[in-house]
Amino acid sequence: MLTLIEGLLSEPARIEPKYFYDGVGSRLFELITLMPEYYPTRTEQSVMAVYRQEIACALGEVATLVDLGAGNCQKARDLFASVRPKQYVAVDISAEFLESALQEMRASFPDIRMQSLAADLTQVIDLPTDLGEGKKVCFYPGSSIGNFDPGQAIELLKRMRQLVGQKGGGTPGGLLIGVDLVKENSVLHAAYNDELGITAAFNRNMLTHINSLLGSDFKLEDWGHDAFFNQALSRIEMHLYARRNVTVHWPSGPGWSAGERFFASGDSIHSENSYKYQTELFAEMLLQAGFSSSQFWTDPNQWFAVFYARG
Ligand code: AVJ
Repeated sequence: MLTLIEGLLSEPARIEPKYFYDGVGSRLFELITLMPEYYPTRTEQSVMAVYRQEIACALGEVATLVDLGAGNCQKARDLFASVRPKQYVAVDISAEFLESALQEMRASFPDIRMQSLAADLTQVIDLPTDLGEGKKVCFYPGSSIGNFDPGQAIELLKRMRQLVGQKGGGTPGGLLIGVDLVKENSVLHAAYNDELGITAAFNRNMLTHINSLLGSDFKLEDWGHDAFFNQALSRIEMHLYARRNVTVHWPSGPGWSAGERFFASGDSIHSENSYKYQTELFAEMLLQAGFSSSQFWTDPNQWFAVFYARG
C-alpha cells in the first residue's frame, strides 16, 4: 500500500499495472482479448497452433509446467494438446479468479497434478517444494513481459532461469514466452484504443480497485483513457488523465497517514507500459539473463513471436 501511495504522490503520478487485475479487471482483460483490434492474443494463439508440433519437440518431455500469469488458464489448456506435463503450477496475482479456473482444468485433465499459487511476479516466487527433480518449463505467454522496463525484464528473466534450473545438474528446463513485436503505429494504436471502449474501461476500472484498497475517493467520471505509442522508447503508454481539476483524498491506514493529491485538468496518472521488441533484441536479452540458446516462431506479418529459451 505504501508503494501505491508513493506512486500517487510522485511526479508524474503512476500506478503499477498489477492494480488492473481485480475481479472486474481480469474479466475486462478477457474481453479486450476478444476485441477485433487487439491482435496479440489471437496472433499468439495462431503461432502456437501452426507450430504446435515444433514447439512440443523443442520442449521435449516436461515434468512440471509453471504458468506465470495463468489467468483463465486457456493458454495452458491449448498447450496440453501437444505437451502433457506431469504437474501444472498455475501462478497468478488474482487468487479467486485463478482457483475457479483451476477447478475446470482439474476436471478436464484428471491425470495432471495441479496446484495454484497466488503470487506477484515482481516479488520472489517460492514454488511448492514437492515438485521433484524432473524438467521444469516456465510458460509466460501474452507478452506480459512487455509491462517491464528492459532492465527489469532481464531481472525477471534471470529469476525464471533460476526457477527452471536444476540443483543436482539434471536436465535444465526452459522458458516458453510470448513477445509482442514492433509494428506499424496505426496497428498498435488501434489495439489499445478499441472502438467499444473496453480498454478504456479496463484502464479506468483501476481507480475503482484503488478506491477499494485504499478507501480513496477517485470518481470515474473525472478520468479519461489515453494510450499512444512512444516511438523513442518502443512502448505503448497508457495513462488516466484528469478531465477537470480534481483532488483525490485517502484516509490513514496501518503504517501510513491520510493524504491527498491535486491533479490539474489534463494531468495524468501513468498506468501501464507495454514494450514492443525486435526479435534480435529479445534474443539478446534472453542470453543476458543466462539462457544458453533460444529459437522463436512468428506469424506471417511478424506481429508476435513465441520464444523457447533453453536453460
Ligand atoms: C497483459 C500486459 C500483455 O500490454 O497488451 C491490454 C495488457 N493493456 N490492453 C498488453 C493490456 C491494455 C496487456 N498485457
